[in-house]
Amino acid sequence: MALDNLLPIIRKTGSNLSPEEFHHRVNVVFHDIEAEDYDQIHKDMWEVLLLQFKLITGDFSKYFEKHSELKLLDVGCGTGLGTELLLATELGKKIKKIVLVDISSKMIEKAVARSKNWGINTESRISMLDSLDEKADIILTSSVLHHIPDLSQFASDIQKRLNLGGVFMHIHDPNGDQLMNPNLVARRKEIAATDKVTSLYQWLNSSEFYKSVFHRLNRMRGKYNHIDLVNNYLLKEGVIKKRMTAKEIWSITDIHVEGLPFSKKKGIRLSEMVNSLDELSLVAHRSYGFYGRLGFELDEEFATKEKELISSGSKEGRYLVAAWRKPVS
Ligand SMILES: C[S@@+](CC[C@H](N)C(=O)[O-])C[C@H]1O[C@@H](n2cnc3c(N)ncnc32)[C@H](O)[C@@H]1O
Repeated sequence: MALDNLLPIIRKTGSNLSPEEFHHRVNVVFHDIEAEDYDQIHKDMWEVLLLQFKLITGDFSKYFEKHSELKLLDVGCGTGLGTELLLATELGKKIKKIVLVDISSKMIEKAVARSKNWGINTESRISMLDSLDEKADIILTSSVLHHIPDLSQFASDIQKRLNLGGVFMHIHDPNGDQLMNPNLVARRKEIAATDKVTSLYQWLNSSEFYKSVFHRLNRMRGKYNHIDLVNNYLLKEGVIKKRMTAKEIWSITDIHVEGLPFSKKKGIRLSEMVNSLDELSLVAHRSYGFYGRLGFELDEEFATKEKELISSGSKEGRYLVAAWRKPVS
């Protein structure tokens, strides 16, 4: 797995770990700490994603018409948000067995607590996909692929874990084939031109320099944010000897996300997934975030245009959702 993009951060922090070990440890610690307030931070995503879950499951539910008992594997389940959204769809009513998988024990704790409300037989594993011995009818990754360094290995593990006729669906990743699409770029510019800086605080906070000054001052006052806590933990563990900036940490965890200084910056490309998921056929794909932002971040005028683009089935948004099926024989 080539993680050369992380070498400058590894050097800067004086870490003795290999790029693979370094990536894994930072990813686990980041998500362990994020688990505490993940649901609070992402509460606005609920509505946007529920619509997408309904649309994509509507696209592939015909393959499960004759089934009444489906098994779901939610890889990178986090606090269980993705499974809960899937259960809220028509297809979700057929799910009778769930296996929740995550590398973060803190995320799994939250997901297991949430699963008590589902009334469905649910098990959990703190694990990577490659060490699982489990097969399912539906494999879900929700907001996960952009965290996985070696997508082609991951895709091969997904194929092994899917029952015949089963579906792999992924949602909420940057749409690699479209990020430079002139229509998306133009819409991003259009909305950015309407952004207004309404207060001095907002203006100061939009400057990288002042943001870093605020951040240092807060740390001196003992007010730690998420990034400070990740650094504190990694320093204590001896994984790093020097603190990382927020953008350096996100470059590691959000390794395929664009706009970060050390990430791979490519997003998730269907054109590449087709090669990695060579045993599966692409049965549906959709998009959203046509202004580069999510529905709840848009004013009424842009929200209406976003809805129209979603209904038109356009593929030119910032986020990708897709479903792939394994042949029945
Ligand atoms: C952004 S969260 C998404 C959580 C949840 N699926 C949702 O939709 O809210 C990403 C999750 O993927 C997990 N993760 C990252 N890399 C992973 C890997 N290689 N295997 C399993 N889980 C992973 C993280 O620990 C984190 O809980």
